[in-house]
Amino acid sequence: MMNKPLTKQKAVQKIKNLRQDIQYHEKKYYVDNDPQISDYEFDLLVKELEKLEQEFPDLITPESPTQRVGEQPLEGFASVEHSMPMLSLDNCYNAQELREFEGRIKKIFPSEKIEYEAELKIDGLGIAIIYRNGKFFQTVTRGDGIRGDDVTANVKTIKSLPLTLDTTQDVEARGEIYLPFSSFHRINQEREKEGEPLFANPRNAAAGSIRLLDPKEVAQRGLDMFLYSVFLDGKEKASQSENLDVLKRFHFKTNPHSKLCFSMEEVLIFYQKWQEQRDSLDYDVDGIVIKVNSTRHQTLLGSTAKFPRWAISFKFPARQATTKIKDILIQVGRTGALTPVAILEPVKLSGITISRSTLHNEGEIKKKDIRIGDTVLIERSGDVIPKVVSVMREKRTGKEHPFLFPTECPVCHAAAFHPEGEAVSRCTNPSCPAKLRESLLHYASRRAMNIEGLGDAIVHQLMSNNLVKHIPDIYNLRIEGLIDLERMGPKSSQNLLDEIEQSKDRDVARLIFALGIRFVGERTAQALATHFKSVDTLARAGCEELLQIQDVGPKVAESVVFFFDQPENIELLKRLKQAGLNFADRKGLEEGGKLLAGQTFILTGKLSRFTREEATAIIQNLGGQVVSSVSSKTSYVIVGEAPGSKLQKARSLGVQILDESQFQELIGTFYK
Ligand code: IVH
Repeated sequence: MMNKPLTKQKAVQKIKNLRQDIQYHEKKYYVDNDPQISDYEFDLLVKELEKLEQEFPDLITPESPTQRVGEQPLEGFASVEHSMPMLSLDNCYNAQELREFEGRIKKIFPSEKIEYEAELKIDGLGIAIIYRNGKFFQTVTRGDGIRGDDVTANVKTIKSLPLTLDTTQDVEARGEIYLPFSSFHRINQEREKEGEPLFANPRNAAAGSIRLLDPKEVAQRGLDMFLYSVFLDGKEKASQSENLDVLKRFHFKTNPHSKLCFSMEEVLIFYQKWQEQRDSLDYDVDGIVIKVNSTRHQTLLGSTAKFPRWAISFKFPARQATTKIKDILIQVGRTGALTPVAILEPVKLSGITISRSTLHNEGEIKKKDIRIGDTVLIERSGDVIPKVVSVMREKRTGKEHPFLFPTECPVCHAAAFHPEGEAVSRCTNPSCPAKLRESLLHYASRRAMNIEGLGDAIVHQLMSNNLVKHIPDIYNLRIEGLIDLERMGPKSSQNLLDEIEQSKDRDVARLIFALGIRFVGERTAQALATHFKSVDTLARAGCEELLQIQDVGPKVAESVVFFFDQPENIELLKRLKQAGLNFADRKGLEEGGKLLAGQTFILTGKLSRFTREEATAIIQNLGGQVVSSVSSKTSYVIVGEAPGSKLQKARSLGVQILDESQFQELIGTFYK
């Protein structure tokens, strides 16, 4: 049956209601991170509005949520003068300089208590957003502070931007446009596939995105914003904390971590906290901003030509730096992979001195055209090993020279082999000492057999004293052999022997992982152990059986079969078994169905392959528990699309986070 067409009068009302509903849900989703309806239900609302607007095109207004990406590609950006200058901030880099800032303020207000609003300094692009009569009107970039570019059509595509405000006053909100790390990585992956140059950091990517001429393309980028200033008919509220409240009341996105501080000590604690936790955020912050809270105080302090005297930024140590490549060395890994490492002129990066950086493989050196003597931009994010982002070609003098990738192993001088289609060259000598060293370190590592004390220095001594030639030799070590080694005494030797002895009882999953089979990481090892329950059964398995395991593909299956076919590996297993290692997991056999016993899970965001109820049932069937609030004791947070604030909390507590496919890998064979 056809729906009866609406009268125009009814359509006006319906359209108004739909716009209000959509605006409400956009705010819940994009600003509050707290969706109230499913994506599907939300899409239905938008589709219904679109349909009505098609029927009654004269009812379309620029503020309709359907019009975010309505504009045609631009010719360029018009230059617009700011209503009042957009000042920059003075910087300081240590507590002493911050105290000096405080001293200057106290001199003006010797007997007044000064409050400070401490905010995160978002590493993005400053913008001013203007509303006339409650309607989104214009957005201008900071530019030189006096004039900026009109990027209205592009900013309108950002979903957290309110298109209408509940006021008739003229409103100007100022803040920062940024690109979340998640979008930044996605964009760079796409660019890599297309062979386009990569963005060096989220800030550059945001700057490039806001200057795209086609708003449709901008909408795909995933930009977002935080606002921190607001003027109502040109005036601010009595304090910065009230300004932030006004922004929130108007449904702007403000940063949730701002803090009103009653002393500089509190500001310093805030700085310390965020310097440590900045990697838990999905956006880049390069410091904090400290603002005298009272607008009266601000006005009395005034500004210089460039900076306000009432605010300052206290920068975090930089994560990117430029330095020179002094040399390139080759490291040999556990699988014999030859990895080039850049030896750098030491440079300070986020508080630590960096003198090496991985170059990954020969292809990477070629792709980035990295030469010895080059000046390069390096970057460290989180606890990740520093990497070379790009070569600064303009700094070349002509004295740089390309690196010739070796055709032999630098440790044992056997030939190196570079299989077609693979990124790395490998040493072909099965008893290359470098391989043994790395294999042993992997075997003993915390996530494998967890043998504390069997680190770099001792492995080096065990090998050079011929005490260990193969991994199982560690189980024949005696106190007499250890006691004379450098920095070992009777106590530390006995501790090491005890640790080695205890490793015999590790579960089968750890042992499988410790063997260092190519492409078998911790999770795959767990899936193999759960399926086969013993190393011997695994060793006998063929490709077909292996391929039945969820997430074991042909590459892993072939690698496993290949590993257990090698005579030296058969010998290795024989000797480990003789040493008394745990080859069959009794616990695993008994608790076959209880893979997740004792583990707690949080679900956040929308999963695509399971409903929330299905995921909960699977976890419970496997002995796990689904809980609703994150704590440091939570085992895993499973993240779907558009996750809520629990994700951030999990990050800040260091709880392990799994996306949907990692979750599937974890539940592995139990869910087919
Ligand atoms: S206040 C007059 N607050 O940092 C006050 N700026 O290096 C000016 N920024 O141009 C800005 N986060 O683009 C302020 N919480 C924050 C900020 C912030 C980032 C940017 C802003 C400014 C630049 C100065």
